[in-house]
Amino acid sequence: MRRRSAPGSLRRALAAAAGALLAGAGGLVLLALACGRPVSAADGALLAPGERAAILALGPWPPEPPHDARNPASGRPDGVALGEALFHSARLSPTGLRCASCHEPWRHFADGRAVAQGVAAGARNTPSLLDVATHRHYGWDGARDDLGAQSLRPLDDPREMPATPAQLAAFVRADAATSARYARVFGAAPGPDDACVRRDVGLALAAYVETLASPRTPFDDWRDRLVATGGATPTPAFPAAAVRGLRLFAGRAGCAACHAGAAFSDDATHVSLLRSPAAPGIPDDAHPGGPANALRTPGLRDVAATAPYLHDGSADRLCDAVRPHAADPDRPAPSLTAGERGDIVAFLRALSAARDDAGERGCDG
Ligand code: HEC
Ligand code: HEC
Repeated sequence: MRRRSAPGSLRRALAAAAGALLAGAGGLVLLALACGRPVSAADGALLAPGERAAILALGPWPPEPPHDARNPASGRPDGVALGEALFHSARLSPTGLRCASCHEPWRHFADGRAVAQGVAAGARNTPSLLDVATHRHYGWDGARDDLGAQSLRPLDDPREMPATPAQLAAFVRADAATSARYARVFGAAPGPDDACVRRDVGLALAAYVETLASPRTPFDDWRDRLVATGGATPTPAFPAAAVRGLRLFAGRAGCAACHAGAAFSDDATHVSLLRSPAAPGIPDDAHPGGPANALRTPGLRDVAATAPYLHDGSADRLCDAVRPHAADPDRPAPSLTAGERGDIVAFLRALSAARDDAGERGCDG
């Protein structure tokens, strides 16, 4: 539309400039119009209109605060506080393990291990809980579509922090502070029905974990400047390598086909290519009724802080995680050089809140 409204002389000048750029850059760079002005070469990123749209689709951030109308504890300060207390309680399970034993707040709600370690070793990596409110399918396999039920899953898993409904309900009834909070949030003291008390514990836990959100990042600042000014220059926090990585991510590398939208996930399952020896049970039993190894696309915000990566924790570094790992029926896996993967990693690091460590730089083969 903007192209059509440009006066003829400007159009001709643009066509000439675009031709020169095409000749000089092997056809990869197209000249774009921003707010009626050509994006200047000094802006570092010469974005074609389609490319610009693909990048803008990765925001804005943060989203609206969550509110689940089906959950009476959701969005209420006392409901969230009850959930937070339960999340940190060592008495939820007779094992003494807490949700926070694996989802450690200071580790961005992950645990730094390849696979989870509860009462026994599990087969999957502990995902961060940040931004769970942005999805509707939970777990690596996306098999559950209810955050309350997902939050109770570790209590059912004999390898994690098992507790029977009777044990869980007995704790809620007997602990004075917990039962008083429960009564305020759900309108009545915990009753005799263990299953109801257990369900409400799941709702309170969900009300808490849905508030865990990742902060804005250098990428978000860069993207918002692109919206405001039509061009965005690299910055120390979003360097030229991150701009190149972003353009690959949203373009030729095909990452944004699955890692889509502001939370960098399409919330759908894809067949993982991983056949790693790192964990038993690979290929994963994955999504019930789905093909073997069907896994939900994880979000990528804050990902630089939550190594090791992938469902079996088999990638220690982002450089390894960004090798082809999921089948896209619409296109073959792109071949990326070590330099290109390094650029993508620079982008992913800038998709995480500022960190003071040096972190991984570049990919070496
Ligand atoms: C032993 C370690 C461990 C403990 C303890 C644990 N989790 Fe998890 N959590 C995991 C693992 C592993 C997964 C991935 C599960 C899967 O894919 O099957 C997960 C997944 C989740 C998810 C889904 C995240 C997503 O992005 O889809 C939520 C929500 C969650 N846990 C909440 C909790 C709550 C609430 C508790 C306490 C009741 C808890 N977890 C206790 C290891 C743990
Ligand atoms: C066809 C869909 C699809 C495409 C395309 C895709 N991914 Fe993924 N991505 C996934 C799935 C599914 C997983 C989980 C795979 C597993 O754990 O086995 C994943 C996992 C990841 C992880 C690990 C996240 C974590 O928390 O452990 C990173 C990093 C990642 N992808 C980045 C990328 C990048 C960069 C690209 C482009 C080069 C890309 N992905 C292309 C679907 C996709």
